[in-house]
Amino acid sequence: MDDTGRRKSDHIRICLEEEVEVGRDPGWADYRFDHQALPEIKLDEVNPATELLGRRLAWPFLTGAMTGGTKQAWQLNALLAVGAEACGCGMVLGSLRPALEDASALASFDVRHVAPCLPLLLGNIGAAQLAVAGIETRILGLCLRLRLDGIIVHLNPLQEALQPEGDRDWRGLRSRIAELRIAMAREGMALGIKEVGSGISRSTARWIGGLRPDLVETAGLGGTSWARIEGLRSPDDTGSRVARTFETWGHPSVESLASLRKAAPGIPAVASGGLRTGLDLAIALRLGASAGAMALPLLRAAVASEAALASLMNALRKELCLAMFVTGSRTLGDLRRAPIRGPDGKRIPFPRGFAA
Ligand SMILES: Cc1cc2nc3c(=O)[nH]c(=O)nc-3n(C[C@H](O)[C@H](O)[C@H](O)COP(=O)(O)O)c2cc1C
Repeated sequence: MDDTGRRKSDHIRICLEEEVEVGRDPGWADYRFDHQALPEIKLDEVNPATELLGRRLAWPFLTGAMTGGTKQAWQLNALLAVGAEACGCGMVLGSLRPALEDASALASFDVRHVAPCLPLLLGNIGAAQLAVAGIETRILGLCLRLRLDGIIVHLNPLQEALQPEGDRDWRGLRSRIAELRIAMAREGMALGIKEVGSGISRSTARWIGGLRPDLVETAGLGGTSWARIEGLRSPDDTGSRVARTFETWGHPSVESLASLRKAAPGIPAVASGGLRTGLDLAIALRLGASAGAMALPLLRAAVASEAALASLMNALRKELCLAMFVTGSRTLGDLRRAPIRGPDGKRIPFPRGFAA
């Protein structure tokens, strides 16, 4: 196994064996819908179907970017793809970096043949990988071979800086992302941007608003902590200590979503980072997200069994539908108008700048 493969395997092992969620709250629990004791609708008619990037989803959910490049990664990707297809949601693959480094790794991402009816399939690549001139042509080639609907570029400067082998030169990457955006658009494929757990600040959101990607994912603070994971991987005490100092660095998921709604209105936002229930998802949708995504709990369920993964995804969908029922919301449009209160007990206005 090469270095990238070993790193990917380490990440999965640590996520399965260790506590990698930090104590900081993503913020979803600070919001409370008004309970509708007389909803005047039937639970069976609640319908959370939506469109994202022009694709029809049975409900607004994506399995978050996780892995690829190894045999174990292929097994996980296949399970996640089959699970997502069965419940009519979308999937984001893990970073395609292993396939850029070794063509034989591409097969571990090739999920279309196990889940041909998956409604939305997105690839993923680190911004730091874009530093190599001409790389966009190779990335585009991978997207076409895997029959992807688009790609999400992840921004992870903190994680890279904490990795002994990580990329430390982040100069010039804004223009490289803009070039990839143009190349993807030429082929009719979407480009998204995401963090990996430190969230999006107001100033980064402003830059994203100017770039106008097709999608943005918050991946805010409050879920999986990459500082914690890299600290646990660190070969020395200094590395562990520095990583611990940054375990709660960044913007909680709710704050990231608010920044994006303000500074990048009209760009569909996927809420992620510590999203753990269908009620969290309902709150995120009410606050202006177009969909939600989850990573760590899906990984743990998929490793347990295919049935455990299906059960978790069904539970999430049911929780969303129940939140819709007890707010009297037949559709996601109704849910976005449902009264909700923030941390100070004050009503939150309807989301502006919302986009599907
Ligand atoms: C095992 C694992 C591997 C991940 N690999 C990637 C990756 O390759 N690319 C990426 O953008 N995000 C990656 N992530 C980050 C997730 O997509 C997500 O943004 C983050 O974990 C926050 O969501 P969570 O709190 O639900 O886990 C990974 C997460 C996990 C748990």
